[in-house]
Amino acid sequence: MPSLYYTKEMTGLELPRHIASRVEERTGPAVAAAIGGMVADGSLDVGDQLPTVRALAAELGVSPSTVSEAWRILRDHGVIETDRRRGTTIRRAGSTDNSRYWHVPVEPGTLALDLSTGTPDPRLLPALETALGNVHVDVGARSYLDEPVVPELAAVLGADWPFPPEALTVVDGAQDALDRLIGAIVGFGDRVVVEDPTFPPLLDLLELAGASVIGIDLGDEGPCPAALAEALRNDPVAIFLQPRAHNPTGVSLTAERADAIADLVRPTAALVIEDDHSGAVAGADLHSIGTRLPTQTIHIRSFSKSHGPDLRLAAVGGASGPIDSLVRRRQLGPSWTSRLLQRVLLELLSDDRVHRDIVAAELAYADRRRRLITALRARGVDIPAVGSGLNLWVPVRDERDAAVALAAQGIGVAPGSPFEVDDAECHHVRVTISALPNNIEELAGALARTSLTPPHRTGGTYGR
Ligand SMILES: Cc1ncc(COP(=O)(O)O)c(C=O)c1O
Repeated sequence: MPSLYYTKEMTGLELPRHIASRVEERTGPAVAAAIGGMVADGSLDVGDQLPTVRALAAELGVSPSTVSEAWRILRDHGVIETDRRRGTTIRRAGSTDNSRYWHVPVEPGTLALDLSTGTPDPRLLPALETALGNVHVDVGARSYLDEPVVPELAAVLGADWPFPPEALTVVDGAQDALDRLIGAIVGFGDRVVVEDPTFPPLLDLLELAGASVIGIDLGDEGPCPAALAEALRNDPVAIFLQPRAHNPTGVSLTAERADAIADLVRPTAALVIEDDHSGAVAGADLHSIGTRLPTQTIHIRSFSKSHGPDLRLAAVGGASGPIDSLVRRRQLGPSWTSRLLQRVLLELLSDDRVHRDIVAAELAYADRRRRLITALRARGVDIPAVGSGLNLWVPVRDERDAAVALAAQGIGVAPGSPFEVDDAECHHVRVTISALPNNIEELAGALARTSLTPPHRTGGTYGR
């Protein structure tokens, strides 16, 4: 009888047989999932050698291309690596060594003008003194199983939600929401759709979850419907979108495009996860897929850009299944988001002066963005005159040369490749406009020198 567990003493002949016994379906993703499971339960270890593609294909009775597909999925997710000498071996699992995120910002304090951060201008955030003064210190929890959201805040958020959410909770920022939703809905080998380019930590999180990521092109009105239709043929479990002020491109969904996306998603089992990371300072109207598909959408609203990143607050509302499992799982970890901070947010959301400050901040960002676009276009840079939010996606001849040349002039920008699904070569840098100086002539000149004669583009307007 074959052993249930692979042991290190097994010969090269037994390993293919053992893998085969774990494979539930004769498909590439299923083979990848079986090997992922063996890594997870410790029956395969770092450095262990996998069978050759041919040997495993013969054992499974599939074509070598099925095993190659599994190898590609595992390689894409950092589970295996191949070299000429050792063949294909198990890599350190869950490694964040080559994570995209750490390649984005420049080291704080090293450059005179740091436009790499993606964060809001601290001078445009509302003052917290009044709100802090109004919050009583006795708002803490009586039980760890108390309702995690302050009811008055839940009512204010619910009244302003783009669609009636089946469930709503508060977490520690949009990034926390993405992390926990991925934990709730994405399994190893699952397909997910993202905009390409997109937010680097989202790609890192999906990679760590072992998802197979399908990037879709973006145009001026949002994700391209033809690319989404094609991606949906792979039965993705989720589609991650930024409905407005897309980071890094600044694109927002139009109402027509939101309709088209909803029509494509409606007949599928996919869930739409909307990350409204710039919220009240997005500088564009919100056209939520959730108003079209309320039970198939989860909307995330962050208060980082509008009210302050250090509040670490975002609300998550929509389809109840994943949100309920997020809440239950989170009860075993941080349990809830500080009610003190929730009360501070409630105060801020109820204060007309704060509201006016935020409207002024939104206008200031729009003005900064417009000024830099105008200065770049005047210098011949081929950059779309549309979009909103805190970032500009600037075409450059070579992202590394651009980053180095700009750093030599004391200007920090984020290289573009971490934002791309296939983070190979990229011809963009991301410039955060929130810290734009009053005199932008020098900056525009320096950017334009790295940017003139951009290469031909492929894909959507914002493709490489
Ligand atoms: C697309 C996107 N999602 C999430 C975040 C993180 O937001 P939060 O501070 O709410 O975690 C950012 C921050 O820039 C972002 O650009």
